[in-house]
Amino acid sequence: MGFYHGVRRLGELAEQERRVPSRVLVSRLLGYIRPYKRRLAVAVLAIIVTSITGSIGPYILGREIISRYIMKGDLAGLQVIGLIYVGILIVNWLSGVLRGYMIGLIGQEMLFKMRAQLFTHLQRLSFSFFDRSNSGDIVSRVTNDTDSIGEAFISGIASVISNILSLGMVIFFMVNMSVHLTLVSMTVIPLIIAAAWFFQSKFKAAYRKTRLKISKITSRLEEGISGIREIQSFSREREMMKAFREANVENLQANLQASKVWGTFFPTIQFIQATGMSIVILYGGMMALTPNGPLGPLDEAVGTLIAFVLYINMFFRPIFDLTNFYNTIQSALAAAERIFELLDTSPEIVDSPDAVDLPSVKGEIEFKNVTFGYDPAHPVIHNMSFRIKPKETVALVGPTGAGKSTIIKLLSRFYEPQKGVITIDGYDIRKVKQSSLHRQMGIVLQENFLFNSTIMENIRYGRLEASDEEVINAAKIVGAHEFIEKMPDGYWTVVGERGSRLSVGQRQLIAFARALLRNPPILILDEATSSIDPYTELLIKNAMKVLLKDRTSIVIAHRLSTVRNADRILVIDDGRIVEEGSHEELMKKEDGLYRRLYEMQFREPGKPLEAPKVMWRTPR
Ligand SMILES: Nc1ncnc2c1ncn2[C@@H]1O[C@H](COP(=O)(O)OP(=O)(O)O)[C@@H](O)[C@H]1O
Ligand SMILES: [Mg+2]
Repeated sequence: MGFYHGVRRLGELAEQERRVPSRVLVSRLLGYIRPYKRRLAVAVLAIIVTSITGSIGPYILGREIISRYIMKGDLAGLQVIGLIYVGILIVNWLSGVLRGYMIGLIGQEMLFKMRAQLFTHLQRLSFSFFDRSNSGDIVSRVTNDTDSIGEAFISGIASVISNILSLGMVIFFMVNMSVHLTLVSMTVIPLIIAAAWFFQSKFKAAYRKTRLKISKITSRLEEGISGIREIQSFSREREMMKAFREANVENLQANLQASKVWGTFFPTIQFIQATGMSIVILYGGMMALTPNGPLGPLDEAVGTLIAFVLYINMFFRPIFDLTNFYNTIQSALAAAERIFELLDTSPEIVDSPDAVDLPSVKGEIEFKNVTFGYDPAHPVIHNMSFRIKPKETVALVGPTGAGKSTIIKLLSRFYEPQKGVITIDGYDIRKVKQSSLHRQMGIVLQENFLFNSTIMENIRYGRLEASDEEVINAAKIVGAHEFIEKMPDGYWTVVGERGSRLSVGQRQLIAFARALLRNPPILILDEATSSIDPYTELLIKNAMKVLLKDRTSIVIAHRLSTVRNADRILVIDDGRIVEEGSHEELMKKEDGLYRRLYEMQFREPGKPLEAPKVMWRTPR
């Protein structure tokens, strides 16, 4: 059934319309295989040899083996032609294998290149791109769409070439034997085309439906697994099962529908083929029995008839595939369009050609009249200016959504301000290489990403060339050493996806160790202590001193107790600096925002230093 495989993929046609002309897409796709000229030549040669040797068989069998030798009783000749026939079959087999191998090789090579290119490209795209896109969609482009191109495009083209060749050869041999009988055999072609169109539309609809239904099952399943804690604690198992059952039933129905189509497909083909054969045998038989008929003497006529019967069976597949080709290629092109769209998205922030390496800095930071909005029409930072001296510790406080994290993202140049200039040691950060800028900064966030690797490697991520001793030393300073030692494999414990095998506090300590290992001149803690329990906070309180010492530090924290010791506090509200000063100075302002926030947190004596939930909830 292998060669009808392509049919199953029909439903993958993109529903949306393409905007890029096919010509452009095809030539760009061909660009991927153009470098493999030798392999392409071998593949084309294999296709040609396979088609010729595949279609010459019935002719030799009918006209040579049967007519010329068997009917004439020529045993010696039969042995020779028999050997030749077997030889041709072997060549056909070998060239078929070579064809399959070469097509696979070229296709996979193309996929390999495309995936590598996509991944490299994704790693370079700016934050703003990821703000806009949906990660499931990106993943699907890198996996499914490339797959669909590999299968549909390469094997689609290969099969068109070989189908046209085979059909041509078959017709050539038929005409060569009898024009008359060829025309008679062709009466079955309209039937084949009709069947092809009919089944293709059926397959397409059925397949699309099964895909839709199975994706519904997958999403139910996903929810049922990821949400299991919520489901069980709210006793929603029954509802979940019901929803799943519905999806499951729909999927069953769609699949039954699809198998019905499949079930009628093969018998129908066989029926059409049998009809064709009957026509050839009956009509041809009559021609053969006519004295001095168009098929020549009887021995020749018998061979011709047998060859024709075999050729009729060779019509179906090429014709079916050719009518299918348009669909196959359309779905490949739709996938190609989605991939190229991704590849053509250029990073918004790139090093300018004359960018220099930012030398080791002292850590003086300055914002000059910076205005920025994720959407330029709605600024979230308004004409902001401030200066941070080298080795100063500055705290940013203010309500959720005030723009504190945004300031950090601007300083890291993950986004670019619409107006104003940001400098480090007097260097405009737009004029230095991004890598040299990031090398000098260490950032600890509220939630830090751990890679599914060992604790050792996760800490070393801060500075790849650090030795094991340096890693352990950093862990000791931040107070992570103790718990790491207690893990089953110590520093070589694998942390699980996103560090799921560690508690939030433990993950945080590892992030601190990672930042410390980097030993950057500029350190940024964005709500880094927010998800830490009071005990762990005590643990890292000393670590914080080490961490903040001797470098420029920006600390964002919603527990104001954490920021009390900062050299200076900037109070941010609605993208503006509304107050500035030390803790003591700010507390003196009777109606100041800082004082109000502070009093809110410490209003009730004896209560833990917990921020009021609504106002201080951590933003995205
Ligand atoms: N990636 C983003 N895309 C669009 N808007 C954002 C994005 N990140 C933050 N914002 C918006 O920018 C404003 C400032 O956010 P942020 O700097 O995260 O505040 P916070 O002071 O709580 O750290 C908020 O109104 C927030 O909704
Ligand atoms: Mg924030």
